[in-house]
Amino acid sequence: MRKSAVLEAVEGLVGSEDLSKALKGVDIIGRIAVIKIPREWQAIRHQVGERVLTKLGVDSVYMQTAPSRQGDRVRGLDWLAGKRSTETVYSEHGCKFFVDIGKVYFSPRLSNERRRVADLVAHGETVVNMFAGVGTFSIIIAKSKGAKVFSIDNNPNAFELMIENVLQNRLNGKVIPILADAREAAAELERSADRVLMPLPELAEAYLGEAVRMLRGKGWIHVYTHERGNNKTEAVDRAKTKILESAEMSAEMIRCEGKVVRSIGRRNYQVVLDMQVIPH
Ligand SMILES: C[S@@+](CC[C@H](N)C(=O)[O-])C[C@H]1O[C@@H](n2cnc3c(N)ncnc32)[C@H](O)[C@@H]1O
Repeated sequence: MRKSAVLEAVEGLVGSEDLSKALKGVDIIGRIAVIKIPREWQAIRHQVGERVLTKLGVDSVYMQTAPSRQGDRVRGLDWLAGKRSTETVYSEHGCKFFVDIGKVYFSPRLSNERRRVADLVAHGETVVNMFAGVGTFSIIIAKSKGAKVFSIDNNPNAFELMIENVLQNRLNGKVIPILADAREAAAELERSADRVLMPLPELAEAYLGEAVRMLRGKGWIHVYTHERGNNKTEAVDRAKTKILESAEMSAEMIRCEGKVVRSIGRRNYQVVLDMQVIPH
């Protein structure tokens, strides 16, 4: 829908190429639109930005110049039109989030996944979110289920925004922001959780042992990973095999269900595994 609005906005400006192929994606985060445009449009990128600004009625338009980088996962951005500010307020599932897309990772594309996981949480659970960003999963879970959520991130900018977001959503004492490497924080949170979220595919295998150690007994781990496959089923099967064979997985597996969260390229998927385990 938004992609087609952007294509309409640039009609007549970009010639006869296959527009739909050329425009690689659009994210609307609060009052900011982030677009991915092809190399051929570089010379007219600000005009494209101005058109998109008017068409979508946002405050700013940025162009994504690099994918989310390893570590803090912040994306590379170039200003195209409107206000030169990467700060905005994003609303999701009845919660409000201060976000600075120039300083922290943020993706509106995980909205359905955040709702899905929040729906799985039982009232009164203790949850650990190992890679919390600005606290999106943590706050939605705490608000909808009254859960207590230990919310870890090692990016100081994400931590500062998480604190603001906790206050903004009146969840002081329910969501506990922790500025630390998730491995270090896990040592303090050993045997304290009913459920652990691992929303960072790059560290899925390396930090799985920590996730298991934080469970106080039979509990759930939601682990996100990237997997190739000729189709979604194959990607999910491969993800299961990879995680189950992981040397870090020292737990008895009760259940393991997987699904594709989103496609991230040709035959490449983000997969989530919901695993119920008993730590050894
Ligand atoms: C994919 S983002 C999380 C997104 C978030 N769950 C959401 O829905 O908005 C991953 C986060 O993990 C953080 N991170 C990366 N390595 C980490 C580590 N070793 N320990 C703790 N946090 C880490 C990054 O700073 C980033 O904010």
